[in-house]
Amino acid sequence: MPAHIIDGTANAAALRQGVGKEVQRLHAFAGVRPGLAVVLVGSDPASQVYVKSKSRQAREAGITPIDHSLPAQTSEADLLALIGKLNADAAVHGILVQLPLPPHIQAGKVIQSISPLKDVDGFHPINVGLLATGQQDQAFVPCTPLGCLMLLKSQLGNLAGLNAIVVGRSNIVGKPMAQLLVNESCTVTIAHSRTRDIAEHCRKADILVAAVGKLHAVRGSWIKPGACVIDVGINRIAGADGKSRLAGDVAFDEAAQIAGSITPVPGGVGPMTIACLLANTATSAFRHANVAAPRWTLG
Ligand code: GUN
Repeated sequence: MPAHIIDGTANAAALRQGVGKEVQRLHAFAGVRPGLAVVLVGSDPASQVYVKSKSRQAREAGITPIDHSLPAQTSEADLLALIGKLNADAAVHGILVQLPLPPHIQAGKVIQSISPLKDVDGFHPINVGLLATGQQDQAFVPCTPLGCLMLLKSQLGNLAGLNAIVVGRSNIVGKPMAQLLVNESCTVTIAHSRTRDIAEHCRKADILVAAVGKLHAVRGSWIKPGACVIDVGINRIAGADGKSRLAGDVAFDEAAQIAGSITPVPGGVGPMTIACLLANTATSAFRHANVAAPRWTLG
């Protein structure tokens, strides 16, 4: 039987609606409107599209977007000065610096300059450490792995004892995803470009998260029958009509014959990422107002 297709678009819309309701509640209770500062350096077209979409969805959820678009030649010192101002601004609850940054700016230094209490991307070493030590209630968790975890829990319920494999070891997705799954009591393998017999490792996994950044790197024959497959890949390819289209890191048509459930690309993990950014921003506003933050879940 073909796999159940997990609808990320619908789940993300539901999460955004939930965030919108909680934002209204916070405003009624404490008079606070969450503010999200998004900083873009340079004019990478994909980043510009992404940042626009963040701002629109923030506004729809009752979060005030505060956009800073800086020229590509902005100095590291000027960027650090802007972040210092945003750290001190009480109207700003979340700060996101769009990556990648131009090569003359050290991304690590910039990330460490963001207040950990406003780091809604969850990239600051303090937040990385809180997640790694199982204190994620106090942390900000990176948005893409957080969205993947929500989809997994809504599909599978309790994840304890399941075998999970994360293919990819990036700081943005692979490593935090593995930490989240360990915290859910999964038995976790992290596979990467140097892993031997990667297909054999994958065939043991009840949960497979593909975050490789390579088109169709994970084949259908690698998948355990009935497994839940989460595809984080966003690869732009030429479609039959000459226009470009998006495709994932998993060979979807093959995998959908074997998996129990699978996320499509587009319409899977992608929309969840921005919805989780809005949830993290709302969480920050609740924490700053000393009001217990909601627990975000999907239906
Ligand atoms: N570039 C690609 N993904 C992300 C993300 O989740 N956050 C930021 N800040 N930049 C990105």
